[in-house]
Amino acid sequence: MSGGGVSGGAGVKGQGGALVICVGQVVTDHTFRVDEVEPPPSKTTARAYSMSVGGMAANAAIAVARLGGRAVFWGRVGRDEAGEELRHALESEGVDASGLVMAEGARTPLSAVIVDKVGERSIVTYRGERLPTDPSALPLDRLSEAGCVLCDPRWPEAAEVVFRRAREAGVPSAMDAEKSEERILRQLVPLTDHAIFAKTGLTIFAPGVPPEEGLARALRTGPLKLAAVTLGEKGTLWLSPGMEAPARRPAFPVDATNTTGAGDVFHGAFALAIAEGQGMEEALRFASAAGALRARDGRTPDRAMLEELLAGETDVPPIRVRRKA
Ligand SMILES: Nc1ncnc2c1ncn2[C@@H]1O[C@H](COP(=O)(O)OP(=O)(O)OP(=O)(O)O)[C@@H](O)[C@H]1O
Ligand SMILES: [Mg+2]
Repeated sequence: MSGGGVSGGAGVKGQGGALVICVGQVVTDHTFRVDEVEPPPSKTTARAYSMSVGGMAANAAIAVARLGGRAVFWGRVGRDEAGEELRHALESEGVDASGLVMAEGARTPLSAVIVDKVGERSIVTYRGERLPTDPSALPLDRLSEAGCVLCDPRWPEAAEVVFRRAREAGVPSAMDAEKSEERILRQLVPLTDHAIFAKTGLTIFAPGVPPEEGLARALRTGPLKLAAVTLGEKGTLWLSPGMEAPARRPAFPVDATNTTGAGDVFHGAFALAIAEGQGMEEALRFASAAGALRARDGRTPDRAMLEELLAGETDVPPIRVRRKA
């Protein structure tokens, strides 16, 4: 399995960097490149095929490690060949996967990812079978070491306890509020400090209202510092307490080749930025650059690439409307 461009082994990369614990999904991504996604019934020949680590929290953890942070991943797989491969692949990316729960008799999740010639993807995910729900096997005592924790909604029992413990310990948290059951989003959003939705996640969380109102509703559920929604090449709409209306952080303009995982990388980069003590606008800009590079190259950038893109943004867009004095 290749995550691509691995340099340095477990624990080597980002030894002194800020620590981010990523909790949730890890899957084997089977990626097929096609010219056109045909409507069914159809038969399509793939131009290329690859197998790699996927899953929101796992991709985010790899992004943290590539960007110079120390990444810890907590998730669950089966004690099967696919589970072993995922653990090795995470470790070869410099992610501490010692908290990965490998359950006897469970089946490891996997995804079929179909990417068309403009880089847009369709994903079918099999979420595995008999994966344990009880998070008590996780080394929760390590939470106090983290500069930020990031959870996705695919292991809600773990996300709940991690968010609660992080809040008690004063450790900042962020959530990848992706497409999920409504009750899971309602349960978890109030428990995090930074709820960053995918478009569909926000529609499920706040059905029938415009995104601006959805974000305002999310902020009202708890002591959140940020509610945001990522909108692909249209950027990110975000709202913090005290702002009258959401602001838009534009995307960095790139030619996308594969948008798979751009959101995951965005979230990992955001959590790292928070762990490093960056301010909110700075963290959103950092995360946007990481997401854009992932969409452009189809692989997760390193810190130097990201810094270069940030430095090249000469025409820094106005982020907030300033009132006249
Ligand atoms: N084509 C693109 N060009 C520039 N930036 C992009 C592009 N696609 C994504 N991004 C950046 O990454 C962020 C997250 O992307 P997106 O909204 O597509 O995530 P998503 O819907 O959660 O998808 P996934 O989780 O499958 O990656 C965007 O807000 C943007 O900053
Ligand atoms: Mg996403």
